Amino acid sequence: MSKQDSSAKNTLSRRDFLKLLGGAGTALAFTPFVPWGNFMPNPDTTSLSKAKVILPDGTQANVNTFPVNHSEVITYPKTGDRVLDEEAFRKWQFIRLPPELGGEPKDVSAFRVYSMVCLHLWCLWKYWPQEGRKRGECPCHGSMYNVLIGKAFVGPASLQAPPSNVLATLYLEADNDGFLFIKPAKWDVNENGIVGYGRFLKT
Ligand code: FES
Repeated sequence: MSKQDSSAKNTLSRRDFLKLLGGAGTALAFTPFVPWGNFMPNPDTTSLSKAKVILPDGTQANVNTFPVNHSEVITYPKTGDRVLDEEAFRKWQFIRLPPELGGEPKDVSAFRVYSMVCLHLWCLWKYWPQEGRKRGECPCHGSMYNVLIGKAFVGPASLQAPPSNVLATLYLEADNDGFLFIKPAKWDVNENGIVGYGRFLKT
């Protein structure tokens, strides 16, 4: 085979490879019922149980002490393995709403928990409590999330079709002393949602 033939062949295979990649991407984008949980890095669904809301300082969050209009990063579900527990797909923004959005009552209604994985391209967003912001903001391409419902309202994530415009969430309960717990999650678009993919808002 001449040098020219062989380089033409290489070019062709590179092109074919790129086409294949493009095809796979398109197939994923248009497959509505992909069993995401089977291959996406969502936390294992088999061992989910009620868990304490543990703050970065190691204490359990309490409705009587957690500041209004404030957020911390929490991990769920925890495995006890430090490397696994650092996965972005286990990181959540635990938010106490600002007063004007209902953050003052000393009960679970004052709190929200959303997956930190942005629904656009999986950067990590966070809550900004400053006056004029009070919303989730993703540093990568500017998507912004409404903290009351977890829905993107600005940026590329807001242009995605449901359920990929609403963040996965966790639901809470409090004991008689105000200590907060995460209720066992179901990674389903009609329940807690799927981290990195989204959630249908309940009507
Ligand atoms: S990854 Fe968040 S806006 Fe693109």
